[in-house]
Amino acid sequence: MKRAFFLVGIIFAMNALGTVPGMYHEGWVDFNKNGVKDIYEDPAQPVEKRVADLIAQMSLEEKIGQLHQTTWDVGAEKIYKDQIERGDMGSLLGGGEIIESPIHRNALQRFAVEGTRLGIPMIFGHDSIHGFRTIFPIPLAQACAWEPELFERTQRISARETAAGGNDWTFAPMVDLGRDPRWGRIAEGFGEDPWLGCLYAAANVRGFQGTNVAAPDRVVACMKHFVGYGAAEGGRDYNTTEISEYTLRNFYLPQFKAGLDAGAWTFMSSFNCLSGFPASADRHTLNEILRGEWKFRGFVVSDYLAVAQLMEHGVAANGDEAARLAITAGVDMEMVSSNYETLPQQIQDGKVPADVVDEAVRRILQVKFVKGLFDRPYTDETLYQGAYLKPDAVALAREAAAKSCVLLKNEKNALPISKAAKKIALIGPLGDAAGEMLGCWASRGRAQDAVSLAAGIRAKLAPGSKLTITQGCNITNATAEISRAVAEAKRADVVILALGEPRDWTGESKSRTKLGLPGRQLELFHAVAATGKPVIVVLFNGRPLSIPDLTTNATAILEAWHLGVQAGNGVADVLFGDTYPAGRLTISFPYDVGQVPIYYNHLNTGRPGIGEYKGNYVDAPITPLYPFGYGLTYTTFQYGPVRLDSPTVTPGGTVTARVQLKNTGARAGTEVVQLYIRDIAASAGPRPVRELKGFQKVRLNPGESREVAFSLSTHDLGYYDTAGRWLVEPGKFQLWLSKDSAAGEPVDFELISGQ
Ligand code: BGC
Repeated sequence: MKRAFFLVGIIFAMNALGTVPGMYHEGWVDFNKNGVKDIYEDPAQPVEKRVADLIAQMSLEEKIGQLHQTTWDVGAEKIYKDQIERGDMGSLLGGGEIIESPIHRNALQRFAVEGTRLGIPMIFGHDSIHGFRTIFPIPLAQACAWEPELFERTQRISARETAAGGNDWTFAPMVDLGRDPRWGRIAEGFGEDPWLGCLYAAANVRGFQGTNVAAPDRVVACMKHFVGYGAAEGGRDYNTTEISEYTLRNFYLPQFKAGLDAGAWTFMSSFNCLSGFPASADRHTLNEILRGEWKFRGFVVSDYLAVAQLMEHGVAANGDEAARLAITAGVDMEMVSSNYETLPQQIQDGKVPADVVDEAVRRILQVKFVKGLFDRPYTDETLYQGAYLKPDAVALAREAAAKSCVLLKNEKNALPISKAAKKIALIGPLGDAAGEMLGCWASRGRAQDAVSLAAGIRAKLAPGSKLTITQGCNITNATAEISRAVAEAKRADVVILALGEPRDWTGESKSRTKLGLPGRQLELFHAVAATGKPVIVVLFNGRPLSIPDLTTNATAILEAWHLGVQAGNGVADVLFGDTYPAGRLTISFPYDVGQVPIYYNHLNTGRPGIGEYKGNYVDAPITPLYPFGYGLTYTTFQYGPVRLDSPTVTPGGTVTARVQLKNTGARAGTEVVQLYIRDIAASAGPRPVRELKGFQKVRLNPGESREVAFSLSTHDLGYYDTAGRWLVEPGKFQLWLSKDSAAGEPVDFELISGQ
């Protein structure tokens, strides 16, 4: 009913625009302009039949056009008109300076729908990673909220805004496991844990696609980057990865499968070479696992120029070979490069089977039908104004910003700050830097939409209180006015240092070799700390930093990441106690870059622990500065002993674990109780020293205590062998209910065969 109503609107709009006469009918569009309602034009027909009918009408050249995506910007109408009308383009990828209205998109779409023989609509893609215009915290930060439902809500708004701007498809979630903070794209993912990553991957897909991806305010999700991209050697973007099948199955693939199970319709193949062959031409992962084992029915798009880059990788001598390798491996759509143009000749020469192309076209068309592009090819141009930064979006951005903060240190109850503080000195290059708050991949986010920390603090101050703002130094280079900062600190009751990374040091192609604070920020910190004033450090960054000096010398440290448009308000809510910090790290912070990769769910060595002939460093600890799961609150929690209902469990049964949790401090707070297991001996390969398998966020008032109970099914005790089988094996296990991955004492239980 709604769709019919919408179509009438489109028909009206199109007729008013003077488009092809007689093409738009109530309830259907005559895409091939033959005056007859073909099966593919009939919304009442099942998608499979519509796809088959359309493919049967297509020439080989029209099919190849569907496999091609190119990039566009304002002004593309002139550049691409001929190409689109020739049928050479199935999709457009919008980035750059595209304005936030669907007008340009509709103009381009009209060339495809009205200017081509079969009128096949294009699908428009865009990178909305953590928001479109309302920018939410970077995904890594949102993962630290340990609240996938919150992520689903932020990504739902992201979908709404992205769609209003004329996009049908978004290149997210990025579910690459992050173990190496040198890699700039670690900001786009969820951290180092595959189990939590699965929850976030699924939440993102639900947030984008909803229950009906064809709805005008929904977008198609894209699982990326398939696969192993985050394991780049040296943390250098695009670099080679070597991942054993066992590690791939247990750490790198599960998040992709979770997104697929949540309904994701597209995947993106990654740039990296994966264990000896480029992932964008890797038959094993694309054809055998994704298609064969997982039965993925949607389509795979290559990453940007990744098909052409098969030549740079050194597996294709020319564009023909690159195209052949990619399409036969299962890459259906070529992003930006145009090597697939060689396919008609290659089919004629018998080098590529024609049905490989048909299959790729079928997958792409299916997604276009599922997205409703054949029923509603145009975006409503009346809705985008007022679609962005709506009050519910802004309120959610603030909630997400506050919930993403992780309190790393809080001595002398420096936090929360009293609103009655008379003189607050805000020092540091990120204190009044609204634009930096947006983080990497900030889509259409604008600095003027963003709230700086200074603005957030100002809004909290009581009348008569004073805030001074001093940069102290530039974020990355040598410019410094440290003496002025020190003078301000001396005069203040409360000193807040806003330090971190600029947003353009994070994201794609932004790898680092050092993980400390860039520029002279550490010098600034030491100079201010030397005044003897308690120093509250707020960190804005897109990756874990190695900050042992701050850990030792700061009074309080709040990890605030790049939190998006409401960063300043969200952080100020936490700093002044209007809410409390409830985030926990989903990625380890190293002492030193030399420890990288360092992650909690590692395998044991044959010589665990520290001591002579153990796996020590002579110059650094083997533990991280802050472990996975770590985070403080404004109160304290006490854990009682962990109790199991039974020390044994049989297959199909449940392990129930309980712990008494008490808020022993003076304030309300939320504890994230984390459940970890360890499988003591596994036949197909050793299991990690700890694996997260559950968590609960528990809010307690001062003095309150509560039993927290977890039920773990025996399915949760399994793991993948190298053939992708999920094995649940009898034997001994350990279980922790603890505040982070390094805390607590394990209890033992045994999975017995039950015979
Ligand atoms: C990135 C992808 C992104 C694509 C399109 C590439 O450079 O690796 O993550 O989706 O560009 O913008």
